[in-house]
Amino acid sequence: MGRSAGGWRLVCLDRVGSTNDVVRRAGELGLTARLAVFAELQTAGRGRAGRSWQSPAGLGLTGSTLWQPPVSGERAGTLAQVAGIAAVRALGAVGVGARLKWPNDVLIGEAKCGGILIEIAFEGDRVAVAVVGIGLNVLQRADDLPSTPYPATSIQLATGRTVDRNLLAAELLTALAEGYERWLVDPLKDFDAWRAALSTLGRRVTVQGRAGIARDVEPSGALVIERADGSVLRLLSGDVAVAAPGLGGSGSRPRRLRP
Ligand code: BTN
Repeated sequence: MGRSAGGWRLVCLDRVGSTNDVVRRAGELGLTARLAVFAELQTAGRGRAGRSWQSPAGLGLTGSTLWQPPVSGERAGTLAQVAGIAAVRALGAVGVGARLKWPNDVLIGEAKCGGILIEIAFEGDRVAVAVVGIGLNVLQRADDLPSTPYPATSIQLATGRTVDRNLLAAELLTALAEGYERWLVDPLKDFDAWRAALSTLGRRVTVQGRAGIARDVEPSGALVIERADGSVLRLLSGDVAVAAPGLGGSGSRPRRLRP
C-alpha cells in the first residue's frame, strides 16, 4: 500500500467482486479513511438502482474511495456533487470534455462513459463510512460495452484518444481529495460548478414516469422539474431519461425558479 495523488492510501487489485465492498469492509474493520481501491476486473460490479456495472479487465477505470466525514447523514447527500464534479475535472485534466447527467452519470456528448455509486453507512444520524465508487469507460471498443438501455461510450470511442488509465486515476484521486477538502469547509463550494456541468438542465426529461423540463438543481442536489401544468417536482433521486436536443422547446433554457 503506498501514498498516491491527493494523499490517498492506494491499493490496486486484479480481481474483486466490487471495489465498493472491499472499501466498505475496510472501513468497517476500522482501517483509516482516505483509502482508494482500484481493480482491473470486478465480478460483481454494481451500479445505481440495483443495476450491474460491467467493465472488461484492463479497459476501464473502476475504483472506490473510503471517506469518513464527521457530518450528518443529511449533509452527506451532497457528496454526490463532490464526486461528480471531480470526475468531470479529472477528465478535463486529461483533455476530455465531459458533462454530467443528473445526478452524476458522466457523459461525453449524449452518451454515458461513467457512473458513480455512493453507499453510506450511518451511526445514528452521523456518517460512519461513505464509499464513493466510480466507473469510467476508458479504452473499450464498441464490442466491449455491455448492452444498455441508454447510449454508452468510452473515452476511446468518443474521442479516438487512448488515455493512460494511471494518469486518469491520479487526476481523479487528486480532484476527489481537493473537492473533499473544500466540501468539509463549505459543502456548497462546488455547487455552482456541479450545476454548470449538468447537461440535464433546460432539457425535457422523464423521471419515474413523470415528464417536464429540468429547470434547476437545489443545493441539496434535488432536481427541480417544471411540469406542463405548471406544477413543480423536486426529486432527490431517480433515473432521468432526457429527450434528444432540440425537443425542449422555447422554454428550454435553464433558469432559476422562485423558491
Ligand atoms: C451507475 O452509473 O449506475 C454507477 C456505476 C458505478 C460503478 C462503480 S465501478 C467501481 C465501484 N464498484 C462498484 O461495484 N460500483 C462502482
